Amino acid sequence: MSNFLDKLSVRQMTKGDLDSIVEIDTKVLGESRKDYWVTKIINQAENRPPDASLVAEIDGKVAGFILGEVSGWEFKVPNNIGWIDTIGIDPDYQNRGIAKVLAVGLIDSLQKYSVDTIYTLVNWNDWDLLQFFHAMGFSRGDMINLVLKV
Ligand SMILES: CC(C)(COP(=O)(O)OP(=O)(O)OC[C@H]1O[C@@H](n2cnc3c(N)ncnc32)[C@H](O)[C@@H]1OP(=O)(O)O)[C@@H](O)C(=O)NCCC(=O)NCCS
Repeated sequence: MSNFLDKLSVRQMTKGDLDSIVEIDTKVLGESRKDYWVTKIINQAENRPPDASLVAEIDGKVAGFILGEVSGWEFKVPNNIGWIDTIGIDPDYQNRGIAKVLAVGLIDSLQKYSVDTIYTLVNWNDWDLLQFFHAMGFSRGDMINLVLKV
C-alpha cells in the first residue's frame, strides 16, 4: 500500500486558496468566518513572508493549511521571533500526519528568517491543538494571558 503522505504536496498559500480555507474552517468550527479570512489572507498578506503560509494538497484539493508570521517582517526588520497563527486540517484528512508536515515546513521557512523562537496561542480548552503542539515539541512559554472583562 502506498504511503498516504506520498500523495501530499505542500506549497505556498495564495489568495486563491481563500475559499478552500473558509471551507476547512467552517468544517472545523461549524460556522463560516469568510470576512475574517478575507482580512487575514487577502488584506494582511503583505505583513507575512510568502513562504510562512502553506497549504497541503491531496489530489489537487487543499486538505490543510498553516499560517505563520515573523515578528517585524512587515517593517523589514525581522527579529528572532516567529509565530504560528493558525493551523487547520480538513476533518476528513486528520490523524494522517498532514499537520506535522505543514508545521515542519513552516518551522523550516521561519528558520530561514533567523527565527530561533516560535510562539503560538492555544485556548486552554482546545485539547486537540494542545496535544498536537505537545507532539511537535512545544512546551508552556513564559508569557501568561491576562484578561479584564469590562
Ligand atoms: C490539531 C490538528 C491541527 C491536528 O492535525 P492532524 O493532521 O490530525 O495532526 P497529525 O496527524 O499531523 O499529528 C501530528 C502529531 O500530533 C499528534 N496529535 C494530533 N492531534 C492529536 C490529538 N487530538 N490528540 C493526541 N495527539 C494528537 C499526533 O499523534 C502526532 O503525533 P506523533 O508525531 O507523535 O505521531 C487538527 O486536528 C485540526 O486542524 N484541528 C482544528 C484546529 C483549529 O481549531 N484550527 C482553527 C480553525 S481551522
